[in-house]
Amino acid sequence: MKTLKRTIDFSAPYFLQAEPFQEKRTLSLNNQTTVELPDFRVEVTNSDHAFWVKEICEVTLSSAIARGTGISGRSPEFLIEKINKGEAVIAFADNGKWAGFSFISSWDNGRYVSNSGLIVAPEFRHTGLAKTIKRKIFELSRKKYPDALIFSLTTGLAVMKMNHELGFEPVTYSELTTDELFWENCKSCVNCPILMSKERKNCLCTAMLYDPKNEIPTAL
Ligand SMILES: CC(C)(COP(=O)(O)OP(=O)(O)OC[C@H]1O[C@@H](n2cnc3c(N)ncnc32)[C@H](O)[C@@H]1OP(=O)(O)O)[C@@H](O)C(=O)NCCC(=O)NCCS
Repeated sequence: MKTLKRTIDFSAPYFLQAEPFQEKRTLSLNNQTTVELPDFRVEVTNSDHAFWVKEICEVTLSSAIARGTGISGRSPEFLIEKINKGEAVIAFADNGKWAGFSFISSWDNGRYVSNSGLIVAPEFRHTGLAKTIKRKIFELSRKKYPDALIFSLTTGLAVMKMNHELGFEPVTYSELTTDELFWENCKSCVNCPILMSKERKNCLCTAMLYDPKNEIPTAL
């Protein structure tokens, strides 16, 4: 049975928020200690942001090693291209430090769009920043490719939860793009031998897909 997903309201504040949060946010630990969370600026990239690619690549690599699970690495040249084309989202803390990143790619002549490379700098994790980046990259995907099926592959619970909140559903790999170039990227992942042994039908990543056809128009 096909289920309709809840409406996504693109006028909601978090979709429009390119500016820092107005109020200082706090996190309560053990109901006793309260720590102040930094403000973040999350924006669609332009060529001025290419400067940050080295740090993005280094943190992505060290996080992949620390997790011991697969993250398919991307070359600095590839990310610079994404940044220049405005196919990525970058976040900065209020002190100017780079804080996070993610990018999109289109496949099968725009039939599919992947949301990939989500990374938050270790010092800014557990602040809600990944959620803000995910929403912004989702918004960018919808804006650039309104009719595309949007997908994400992950082994991480955090990403699965965020995808679910945005309306993604788990699917088998047969529902994803067959574009060879997309699957080529998996070659840099430690789990690639598993993917190949399963003839690309399965691997350790959970595939999640957002189908714009299931969206209920806001006017209804
Ligand atoms: C995964 C990652 C992006 C999360 O960033 P973050 O800024 O700490 O995430 P947020 O604070 O926005 O949390 C978002 C949600 O994920 C949950 N979450 C965060 N880290 C989690 C973890 N390690 N395990 C389970 N859930 C987690 C949070 O509780 C929150 O859920 P909630 O709204 O129900 O409370 C960050 O840990 C990271 O960069 N990791 C390394 C790179 C990586 O794994 N990228 C994903 C590749 S697919």
